[in-house]
Amino acid sequence: MKKFSIVIAGGGSTYTPGIVMMMMDNLHRFPIRSLKLYDNDGERQETLAKAIGIVMKEIAPEVDFSYTTDPKEAFTDVDFCMAHIRVGKYAMRELDEKIPMKYHVVGQETCGPGGIAYGMRSIGGMMELIDFMEKYSPDCWMLNYSNPASIVAEACRVLKPHSKVLNICDMPVGTKRRMGYIAGRDPKDMDVKYFGLNHFGWWTSVKDKDGTDLMPQLLDYVSKNGYLTEKAVETQHMDESWQQTHKKAADLLKLSPDFLPNTYLKYYLYPDYVVEHTDPCHTRANEVMEGREKEVFSAARAIIEAGTAKGSAFSIDNHASFIVDLACAIGFNTREQMLCIVENKGAISNFDPTAMVEVPCLVGNEGPEPLCQGNIPTFEKGMMEEQLAVERLVVEAWIEGSYLKLWQALTLSKTVPSASVAKQILDDLMEANKEYWPELK
Ligand code: NAD
Ligand code: LMR
Repeated sequence: MKKFSIVIAGGGSTYTPGIVMMMMDNLHRFPIRSLKLYDNDGERQETLAKAIGIVMKEIAPEVDFSYTTDPKEAFTDVDFCMAHIRVGKYAMRELDEKIPMKYHVVGQETCGPGGIAYGMRSIGGMMELIDFMEKYSPDCWMLNYSNPASIVAEACRVLKPHSKVLNICDMPVGTKRRMGYIAGRDPKDMDVKYFGLNHFGWWTSVKDKDGTDLMPQLLDYVSKNGYLTEKAVETQHMDESWQQTHKKAADLLKLSPDFLPNTYLKYYLYPDYVVEHTDPCHTRANEVMEGREKEVFSAARAIIEAGTAKGSAFSIDNHASFIVDLACAIGFNTREQMLCIVENKGAISNFDPTAMVEVPCLVGNEGPEPLCQGNIPTFEKGMMEEQLAVERLVVEAWIEGSYLKLWQALTLSKTVPSASVAKQILDDLMEANKEYWPELK
């Protein structure tokens, strides 16, 4: 069996230890010869890397492990780059969330003005990673789950049309697992149809391997409980604010009663509710900094201090095993069906063929092949067209350095009430992002 060489870009990410542990747990199906961490913040990465180094020696000494801030060292001789960077880190996420809230507008990591601001930061960081990868390992595949995935994917389509980058999101994976709990099925044995943009889509069919239609049972359950389930052995999306989001799916279903919604639609369909239920002084960024970030870095420090992971190990992020599924699909041409963010090319028949959409794909050694989802109805299509225009305008604004296009993007976002509010938010975001955004004229 081939053994792969991996670089994780965003080595200092809170997700890195869980993903490394998950990969080590999956070595039997995805053998690894070398694992490198790369980050542009050496200090942040070092804390995690030192601890991971100790863990690796104990559980997988045969895998060559290293970490670096040097792109050449990181990207030379690699088969896969797993990318999860956050340009601007949590300090900027906090501002993305709090600035819109000053104007009573949704402040969220990937949706609305916050997502637009984050997109304007992510494009440059992602393009740089792709350049490094193509320079030092031209055959490498990048599996990207850095957010905001839809804007990053559109930027890849426009600026890197021939690059081997596959954009994927964990939200549909997590929700499908909840559907599995509800229907009493293994999510791996459920066939789905889905259409949308990233963080903006709907399941139109869920069947088990025998062809039994699970939609009636799922629709009935979600109409009462959203995606809240009693069983939830999750490692992701478990905080109280996420429980509220899973629950809100019941209200999303009212608008599209035949389809199961992506939870992120709450920011577009019920923005007033979201604003009312958000503390403008303590947003999700604060929750993550006080929770996940603190826990992961404390665990790392404990391992370093003890010189062993025994008694204080990192936990395995089983939730992230879709990343190994994806790497196996490409590495071993498994042609597994997975939801990916890809150029439409007719998969959604009555939607722009050049749009970056999220649909089921067959993934093999040449990448993802989108599967036909047919026509979509007017309501969902209208929402998607508006949101697609927002995402395109952001990418155009970044490329052209256009203030007008970014103002148009904010104005068009369903989360923003008027052009004047859009302008006020934009001016604040622009000031806060001086270090990260291209200059806008
Ligand atoms: P984090 O801030 O903990 O980690 C991000 C890391 O990226 C930091 O160490 C930072 O220094 C580094 N970085 C920033 N810009 C960089 C650049 N240009 N080059 C190299 N490194 C750079 O963030 P996090 O909360 O762990 O999230 C990381 C990313 O993963 C985000 O984009 C997030 O939205 C996404 N994400 C991933 C999953 C998943 O399942 N893995 C789930 C949700 C979100
Ligand atoms: C994250 O953990 O940062 C993302 O999964 C989204 C969120 O708010 O938890």
